[in-house]
Amino acid sequence: MSHHYIKAENLDYTYYGGTKAIEDISFYIGHGEKVALVGANGAGKSTLLLLLNALLFTQRGSIDIGNTIITEKTASYIRRKVGFIFQNSDNQLFMPTVDEEIAFGPRNMGLPNDEVEKRVDMALEAVKCQDLKYSVTSHLSGGQKRSIAIAAVLAMDPEILLMDEPSSNLDPYSRRLLIERIKSFSHTCIIATHDLEMVWELCPRSIAISEGKIIYDGPSKSLFYDKELLKECRLEQPYLAQIEQMKESEKIRNCN
Ligand SMILES: Nc1ncnc2c1ncn2[C@@H]1O[C@H](COP(=O)(O)OP(=O)(O)OP(=O)(O)O)[C@@H](O)[C@H]1O
Ligand SMILES: [Mg+2]
Repeated sequence: MSHHYIKAENLDYTYYGGTKAIEDISFYIGHGEKVALVGANGAGKSTLLLLLNALLFTQRGSIDIGNTIITEKTASYIRRKVGFIFQNSDNQLFMPTVDEEIAFGPRNMGLPNDEVEKRVDMALEAVKCQDLKYSVTSHLSGGQKRSIAIAAVLAMDPEILLMDEPSSNLDPYSRRLLIERIKSFSHTCIIATHDLEMVWELCPRSIAISEGKIIYDGPSKSLFYDKELLKECRLEQPYLAQIEQMKESEKIRNCN
């Protein structure tokens, strides 16, 4: 995987039972881009991320990740390269203790024990949860689980990062750590979120979906000022955009 682009063409996904979650979705995301995926509850964000991580398979079209087409055969390769933070950490964490949880991925990649140990400590340091190293995973709080899920993915040193509502449940300190960590991640990154303040800081580009279809793909700044689109995505204008708009109208008033 030399170039970590993502090229999705004409994706469709209908769940067993008939819910059409994804309909004719196409986009290209270049190496190193940080893209927000926004949309109302049930819009199809998580389903799209599951398709991109080969946990579900598109029923039409194709997904090409760095010159590898996602199929059932390439799925395990894709999952090694593409780190995925689940919307619900309980779906991600399955080992009895935190150190075993974080070691699981690197060990599965065949890394030697001393490297696995190093990665566990580095990942815990990244989320500032060293004190949780030997904790029982199922006893952690919601926010602690989220931080450990993030650490477990970081320990695998992924080439592409997909995150489903990564800031939910995090206290402001842990959210800030996450934002700084994502800023320093130089590879491609897609973040499904309702947290537009985080999008403001991290993602120059946003893709908005509604009822499984892309309704906007462009600069996040334009989305922040498009009240109709924000309404359709059931989002509120970020605080910083409101301040900028107030400053602009003040300037105009002062000129008149
Ligand atoms: N396992 C499933 N079986 C059947 N339908 C599903 C399943 N998972 C999701 N859906 C349906 O697919 C649609 C898209 O759901 P999805 O979880 O992708 O939305 P989302 O944008 O991630 O929403 P949220 O913001 O609430 O996380 C919804 O109508 C949902 O009810
Ligand atoms: Mg979701």
